Amino acid sequence: NPSNYTMEQGTVLGRINCRSKGGASGFKVAILGAAGGIGQPLAMLMKMNPLVSVLHLYDVVNAPGVTADISHMDTGAVVRGFLGPRQLENALTGMDLVIIPAGVPRKPGMTRDDLFNINAGIVKTLCEGIVECCPGAIVNLISNPVNSTAPIAAEVFKKAGTFDPKKLMGVTMLDVVRANTFVAEVLGLDPREVNVPVVGGHAGVTILPLLSQVKPQCSFTPEEIGYLTARIQNGGTEAKAGSGSATLSMAYAAVKFADACLRGLRGDAGIVECAFVASQVTELPFFASKVRLGRTGVEEIYPLGSLNEYERAGLEKAKKELAASIQKGVSFIRK
Ligand code: NAD
Ligand code: LMR
Repeated sequence: NPSNYTMEQGTVLGRINCRSKGGASGFKVAILGAAGGIGQPLAMLMKMNPLVSVLHLYDVVNAPGVTADISHMDTGAVVRGFLGPRQLENALTGMDLVIIPAGVPRKPGMTRDDLFNINAGIVKTLCEGIVECCPGAIVNLISNPVNSTAPIAAEVFKKAGTFDPKKLMGVTMLDVVRANTFVAEVLGLDPREVNVPVVGGHAGVTILPLLSQVKPQCSFTPEEIGYLTARIQNGGTEAKAGSGSATLSMAYAAVKFADACLRGLRGDAGIVECAFVASQVTELPFFASKVRLGRTGVEEIYPLGSLNEYERAGLEKAKKELAASIQKGVSFIRK
């Protein structure tokens, strides 16, 4: 009976010690949607992260199998699986970081906004769980359309009186990861040496790479700018040659971002990444830009810096679409 399922790893003949109870130093992380295309490789990579002491894997299907599989990896984190809504409370209680890739992905021909009707309700329910069980946790929201689901999460938290804008991040790291890769290809550099700020949001024209601010400093021809901007904005469609949705590169990007959040929580200095957060950088209530992550989450949001004419035009387009997507998310909860 799935609703009775609960999985504690290594307890059959295990001697009770601090580690088997998840008491070792490190952070407690839950993945909601852990059995999915993103969830599984994300769970594997988080199990390999030395900052994680406890890893909770929650899904409405297949959580037991994924948990058993991942738990055999001989790394430090204790893994526990949770299946179905009755186990959401146990999955979330005590978590420092909750990563949410739950929900349906795009099929060919769909926009991210086409996912709204299904994923908005999923995100709402999961965030209501967070309100009850771990209202102080950092939340990394991956489920699309991020431009609407992050505002939905904020509204759920506001309604409950638990909203802390420093703790909620829509994950746009995949746009940065793609931008670094594509720019490095054009420049003939190692992608690890390249850093491209990508601001705005996470859909089509709202994805705004700031190619004038690439590190190391460089310049592009107008053709290169047009090519790179279009490729970064359409990376999601390219990722599975148009037949599905990015899972492996997304899991990599999610772990890169989650690791930055955990290093910030630990107190490391100078952790700066792009994320879609409650913001005053523009007139919109949410916007993706560079943020500094620290012990309390988003501790500083950086201004956009100087933009060239091409980027200023892109910003106006991005803001128009973003405003509607944010409002759609807000109205879903306030209706
Ligand atoms: P998937 O269908 O392979 O996996 C989704 C998982 O969510 C499934 O295992 C499903 O059982 C689970 N799920 C559904 N309802 C749930 C609920 N109520 N509670 C818990 N789990 C639930 O999809 P995927 O390819 O992993 O993509 C997941 C989401 O991430 C999609 O919305 C996709 O568009 C989005 N995505 C975002 C980015 C980004 O950059 N932010 C990148 C890629 C994909
Ligand atoms: C992506 O950028 O790969 C994701 O948002 C998935 C998608 O639908 O494109």
